Amino acid sequence: MKGKCVRASAPGKLIVLGEHSVVFGKPALALAIDRRFRCEISPGSGILLNGTGLSPRLHPHIDTILRKREVSDLNIITDSNIPSGSGLGSSAALSAALISAVRLMRGEDCGEEAVAREAFETEYEVQGRASPIDTSTSAHGGGVAVNCPEGMGKPIWNISKGENSWTVSDIPVPEMTFVVGYTGIKAATGPLVEKVRKYKESNRFASDIIDEIGDLTLEGMAAVSRDDKEHLGGLMTRDHKLLSILGVSCRELNRLVDASLEYSYGAKLTGSGGGGSMIALTDEPEKVCKAISLRGGEPFIVRTGVPGSAAGFTNS
Ligand code: PMV
Repeated sequence: MKGKCVRASAPGKLIVLGEHSVVFGKPALALAIDRRFRCEISPGSGILLNGTGLSPRLHPHIDTILRKREVSDLNIITDSNIPSGSGLGSSAALSAALISAVRLMRGEDCGEEAVAREAFETEYEVQGRASPIDTSTSAHGGGVAVNCPEGMGKPIWNISKGENSWTVSDIPVPEMTFVVGYTGIKAATGPLVEKVRKYKESNRFASDIIDEIGDLTLEGMAAVSRDDKEHLGGLMTRDHKLLSILGVSCRELNRLVDASLEYSYGAKLTGSGGGGSMIALTDEPEKVCKAISLRGGEPFIVRTGVPGSAAGFTNS
């Protein structure tokens, strides 16, 4: 691959409502957060990731992106403050950033829709199944709703796969404070998505739970649009209970959610679960951080609504 050095970055995200059920075409709401994956690429000889050879097992997203594009000579340097396997969209951010960089270097369309589509295909291949919520939020930034009611957001693109179709919309989100509590437990998304699929296929009750998450997500979107934190928080806590019934929570997440509730409108796991992170919607972020720390979690306050993926040439 010929060309100059390119730098790119993309944000992580938190899912306010709708993870897992969104994989089956239900609605979801996510916000880009002020944690980013950054990469710098330059022409090289062979593929080098941070100075060493690329392991497809350890870096399936990078391997998939480069393999599908038949890139065999590239130097990649990465840097990220999104913990991997934390439910905060580190793989989607990695995919969106690297795809933006490669597209710019090759003189291809590196607009956010092209990046979101390719990043979705990458996640789908690596996870075996996926929705576009993570990758679209990372590419677009701000607030992103999938399959929201007409008039609530501005539709930006539509993505279909198999029997599912997702209309992705930009959604205005009022100022809200979220605290993230990271359990420190890394959990891969693919096996958790597969667990829910199997449960849904074998059990009518699981399908009902997924429908219920879809309904409460629509209710949550309406609460966001009228800035009703009280109602939104209650729905988040209920969503956590439903996700627990689906089998994607764990003791550590439940402990951090319970600890946050005293000082929050609501709290829930975010992303695929099984470890990873929870979020709390609160006006008392310092108190929530303390409660999370006391239960062994790693808390951080996030700023939401940040810009999506971006890439540019550098002189180095
Ligand atoms: O844990 P993360 O950041 O990969 O989020 C996964 C969200 C799911 O709804 C569980 C899967 C998906 O593709 O939407």
